[in-house]
Amino acid sequence: MDGTTPAPEELLKIAVEVAREAAETACRMRADGVSGVATKSTVTDVVTAADRAVERQAVATLRAVRPGDAVLGEEYGDAEGAGPAGGSGVRWILDPIDGTVNYLYGLPHYAVSLAAEVDGEVVAGVVRNAATGDEWTAVRGRGAYRAGQRLHGSVETDLGQALVATGFGYDPARRAHQAGVLHRLIPYVRDIRRFGVASIDLCLAAEGLVDGYYEKGLNLWDHAAGGLVATEAGLRVDGLAGAAPGPDLVIAAPPALFGPLHDHLARLDAAGGP
Ligand code: IPD
Repeated sequence: MDGTTPAPEELLKIAVEVAREAAETACRMRADGVSGVATKSTVTDVVTAADRAVERQAVATLRAVRPGDAVLGEEYGDAEGAGPAGGSGVRWILDPIDGTVNYLYGLPHYAVSLAAEVDGEVVAGVVRNAATGDEWTAVRGRGAYRAGQRLHGSVETDLGQALVATGFGYDPARRAHQAGVLHRLIPYVRDIRRFGVASIDLCLAAEGLVDGYYEKGLNLWDHAAGGLVATEAGLRVDGLAGAAPGPDLVIAAPPALFGPLHDHLARLDAAGGP
């Protein structure tokens, strides 16, 4: 960060404005009917015209407000113009609609997820459930919040009593492996939840509405903002064996639960498979 990089709080302010505008567009387009549905990595991995329109709109706003920043978005990748080295040291990481399958079906559980990274570290993030208006925010070192309330995660310490959220990728072979892990984990936890929105899963864990979360195969835009929200709520967010959270595995849990959940997942080879 140099003297010209805005404070993380300033970046969060921009992120919240962009996410709210993006969420409004997603909702409006949903009300008009889902269109432009196409598939991506597999036949079940969908993208809609709204994913693309929301991303375009968010990128245009970010470009107008912060022209020197880089933007990594789910649908268009590294938006042309400013790469990470190309300017300010700030990179925005955007999932325009996380939970696209819920969006497609009209399930009120899909989110705009936007994080700001400075010199490679996520310093601010917002996740907004576009359907309900629930909004979670965090600034590194300053805590995580929803509706003005500071978040502290779950106080559960017993994995056997823990409600654990997870998700599945789109590739059938990967899903089969993930289902095998789940099959062998579920006897050791209270129960499992699959909401279909990784960014919101992380925020629910931050809020203590689930006790923990894990998933293999996430992209940065799925977990950058929600991961910061969970971290700032006091959760440990990591991969296996001290690895950073990433495509191999993201585990988020309060410190007392992290170890037992991690060890089960390591034993079950949760980061393995395709
Ligand atoms: C997906 C959702 C889902 C998770 C998948 C993600 P998308 O994102 O977050 O909950 O299980 O791994 O790919 O495709 O809806 O943006």
